[in-house]
Amino acid sequence: MNDKVNGTGNNAPIGVYDSGLGGLTVWREIRRLLPEESLMYLGDGKNCPYGSRPRGEVQALADAAVADLVGQGCKMIVVACNTATAAAIDFLRAKYADLPIVGMEPAVKPACLHTRSGVVGVLATERSLDGDLFRRTAAKYGQGIEVLMVPGRGFVELVEADREATPEAEACVRAAVEPMLARGADQIVLGCTHYPFLLPVLERVVAGREVTIVDPSPAVARRVAQLLDERALRATPGHAPILTFRTFADETYRRRLETKALASE
Ligand code: DGL
Repeated sequence: MNDKVNGTGNNAPIGVYDSGLGGLTVWREIRRLLPEESLMYLGDGKNCPYGSRPRGEVQALADAAVADLVGQGCKMIVVACNTATAAAIDFLRAKYADLPIVGMEPAVKPACLHTRSGVVGVLATERSLDGDLFRRTAAKYGQGIEVLMVPGRGFVELVEADREATPEAEACVRAAVEPMLARGADQIVLGCTHYPFLLPVLERVVAGREVTIVDPSPAVARRVAQLLDERALRATPGHAPILTFRTFADETYRRRLETKALASE
């Protein structure tokens, strides 16, 4: 993949996919770290939220989304959705053996390494929490640590409705987080890419306590950079990136993705 024509070869876009707006929190970290890379964001939108759907359905949705991005010529795929990663990453890697695919890594490891209280809270969608990925990660790094897994009920819907800064959002976040705080959690892992949009509200809820909120998206962006280097896939130096936005919903939703992305830069 070394031809240097704009938009193909190494200058082809990195595909970034989520059920909706959430993956934009990963998109912006990739933009910060890799400003010369073209990015093609696909926010499904039509089938969001994924978090309460059966696993097989999420896998089929992820399959269709990644097929779309591959069809558009993406040189790498970032599954910027914990729910789709948990349901489909092994399937996708088997299907596209030669394509580099980065998934979300629940940031349970750093949280378990840094906790002083020995209690770590994990917020994610129902589907993520009952999947192997989260269970395995918690079992691997959470020995001797109490890992509290709590679904962020209503969080995704609030973000999708642009209601992440409302009193309703604060009440919703408080209901999920206060029981964790009462148990002594001093690390709260954001296990869904929509949740960093709720950070201002989360920070209000934990204000005055020694609590660290752990967002894995900068680490995912670093993994993207590392994989580009390993596969010699970096865009040519000085490349002017092309940023595109796709959706399975309608043009209004596509424009929302674009506006929210560019506002977050
Ligand atoms: N943003 C997603 C995640 O990281 C999925 C949210 C959803 O569609 O329920 O899990």
